[in-house]
Order: sequence, then structure tokens, then C-alpha cells
Amino acid sequence: MLDNKIRDLINEQINKELYSAYLYLDFANYYHEQGLDGFANWYDIQAQEERDHAMLMRTYLHNNGEKVLLDVINKPDKTYENTDSPLKMSLEHEQFITASINNIYRIASELHDYRTMQFYDWFIKEQGEEEKNAEDLIRKYELFGSDPKGLYALNQELLSRVYTASSFTV
Ligand code: FEO
Repeated sequence: MLDNKIRDLINEQINKELYSAYLYLDFANYYHEQGLDGFANWYDIQAQEERDHAMLMRTYLHNNGEKVLLDVINKPDKTYENTDSPLKMSLEHEQFITASINNIYRIASELHDYRTMQFYDWFIKEQGEEEKNAEDLIRKYELFGSDPKGLYALNQELLSRVYTASSFTV
């Protein structure tokens, strides 16, 4: 059994991860509409990864005999003014998720909940990668996005991304 505070935070984090998936699907829809299938592919895969994150946390609660409480997932309410708007929103969102996971880790530490800390070690590392990927994409867009040939090449690069399930297990 986990401390109720930790159980509640993990349930909230599951909702945040599912919202992340929903948000990234919205980004993918936007890029599909723009004819940028590579960018859409990138965010379709991001959405799949976010669902995986939620499922890992769900399994962690199950394995610890805790109840999983699925809550309402908010509607993505973003409007995209420019082609790179979702890229910037993605970085902001990942920073928000990092802060949320760090908060769980901090509280687990205060409660001497070493099991939860160990579980979230993987997510701490993953968030570092997520933020770096988002930053890299913004930078590439700044370098190449204003030129049609550059944008085409970047779109092709993103189209080659393939989904692979995480090797991390609970
Ligand atoms: Fe599950 Fe992109 O954080």
C-alpha cells in the first residue's frame, strides 16, 4: 500500500499523461490539416508514448494494491497561429510535466517512499529526453522551417520516426 497522498498524486499524473496524449493528437491533427505528414507522424508517436506513460503508472498502482481513478480528460483548447506553435507548446507542456513528476518525487522522498522514488527514476530521465527532443525540434524548425526545401526535408525526417514500445517495465 502507498501513502494516500502518493496514490492521489499518481492518479492525477495518469490524467496528465492521458491529457498529454490528447494534446499531442490535437497537434498531429493540425499538422495533418497542413499537409505536413511528418510532423503529424511525430506527434502521433508522442501521443502513443504518453498513453504508455499513463499505463505504466496504472500498473504501478495496481501492483501496489491501490485503486486507479480515471478522471475527466480536458479538451485540448489550443489555437495554432503559426506552423511552429505546437512545437513551442510541446516544450512548455513537457516542462510542466517535468515539474509535476519532480513534485511526486519530492513528496515520495519526504515520505521515505523509496519504491515510488525508484519507479519515478525512469520518468525523471525520460523527461530530460522529452524536453531535449522538444528543444531540438524548435531549433531545427528555426534553422530550416522558413525555406520550403528545408521544411520538406525536416518533414521527411520526422516521417521516418517509428514507434517503439519502451523497454521499461513496472
Ligand atoms: Fe509523459 Fe511527455 O511526458
